[in-house]
Amino acid sequence: MAGRPARAAKKVAEPGVQRCVNSACGATYGLRERIYLCPRCGETLEIECRLPRPKNPDTLRRSWAASANSKLPRDSSGVWRYHAMLPFDEDAPLVTLFEGNTPLFHAPRSAKYCGLTDLRLKHQGYNPTGSFKDTGMAAAMTQAVISRARTAICASTGNTAASLAAYAARAGLQAVILLPHGQVSSSKLAQSLDYGALVLEIDGNFDACMRLVQELGDDPAIYVANSINPFRIEGQKTVAFELMEQCLWQVPHHVVVPGGNMGNSTALGKGFQELLDLGLIDRLPKLSVIQAEGAAPVAHLFAKLSPKQRTDFEHLPEKLEPVENPQTLATAIKIGAPVSWKKALRAVLRSGGRIITVTEQEIADAKAMIGRDSIGCEPASATTVAGIKKLVAAGHIGRKDDVIAVLTGHALKDPDYMIRYHEGKLTSPAAAGDIGGPKPITGAFQNAPQRVAATKAAILASLERQR
Ligand code: F0G
Repeated sequence: MAGRPARAAKKVAEPGVQRCVNSACGATYGLRERIYLCPRCGETLEIECRLPRPKNPDTLRRSWAASANSKLPRDSSGVWRYHAMLPFDEDAPLVTLFEGNTPLFHAPRSAKYCGLTDLRLKHQGYNPTGSFKDTGMAAAMTQAVISRARTAICASTGNTAASLAAYAARAGLQAVILLPHGQVSSSKLAQSLDYGALVLEIDGNFDACMRLVQELGDDPAIYVANSINPFRIEGQKTVAFELMEQCLWQVPHHVVVPGGNMGNSTALGKGFQELLDLGLIDRLPKLSVIQAEGAAPVAHLFAKLSPKQRTDFEHLPEKLEPVENPQTLATAIKIGAPVSWKKALRAVLRSGGRIITVTEQEIADAKAMIGRDSIGCEPASATTVAGIKKLVAAGHIGRKDDVIAVLTGHALKDPDYMIRYHEGKLTSPAAAGDIGGPKPITGAFQNAPQRVAATKAAILASLERQR
């Protein structure tokens, strides 16, 4: 996707520019240029929006508060009610399925499990297709329509696929989805089929699908909808704005997210940074990212950074060592070569957060605990609570700190995992070099269904046993 000569920023009054994240390059491009990597140096791009700068930041706060109660279609979307912060003109053909506006739950059992006095969970699984991808897809499909694309493509572990399928259908575009064959939950696959996408199952993992998408992105008829597309990040950053409104503008100490392709962490970091730049918040929350142990290239890189490198977020490492054969039952984040790692690392370092790993057992137990809080989520999302428990134990998060975990996908995204955990049948995948093959995962909070006789006495006896 590289190779074309760099062009200077357009002088026309567009609501922003695309800028190369490599500070030594810094090339800028117009918003309508359909590029995903900098043609000059091959690095990823980000959008620099022309942000509203009212004299008093309260003006923005008040206008957002008003939009939350407005019945206008645009304001019913948790993305488009922040239109002023997004790189779209007033008359842009906004694509929406009424995404965003997701709940922020208190989770007392999970808090106790982590050793915290309180823990709040921002549940992005309450979006129209059941994952956080919808906020980004609203923006990306709007841009696809503006740039007159006819076909939108993505590589996916399942959720981006479901989201693209739905939003492309809404925008009147053809959706093409590359999935790693046999590695996607059936619920997610079913969604993509139902929304009418062309689903292509590839013999290879997510990283192989992502490489193919990058090659196909050269075709002018094809619009890439992965988070390498900076418009996706723009939509996804709005969760930071929504979260701060829900927190009544009291900045939490920590915000914790799962890490796969690293688009979500990039987006949250960008959202908080923009609020800071506008004076709407006076500090950044520490943004921490949790990866599954068998698919943790960025956590490995973070662990190797010296204390000096951890504070020098303008000079980031040049290369990420990919994980060749990533393994985790949290299939959503089974990714070895994340495309947005540099932007995400910069956001984490800037905020003073950390990137760590958790084991399959830790993910499974944390997920069951989130279930016990009557909330539930898919396995990848539970890395957050597992990671918070570890960060509290290590003293990086204080017991009384204000902590928010972002849950990225709905519990029903992966029912097989849930049933196998509760029946005690879950086994962790064998990583390359493991001796002895898959290891059983203990269902520490197991709750298997019981087969009982169809009699009142048998039911009462079961009830008594559970008391
Ligand atoms: N949680 C869920 C439920 C996901 O589906 C993903 C990514 C992540 C976390 C990680 O977010 O990639 O922005 O760091 N899913 C992508 C997909 C890869 O294709 O659905 P990230």
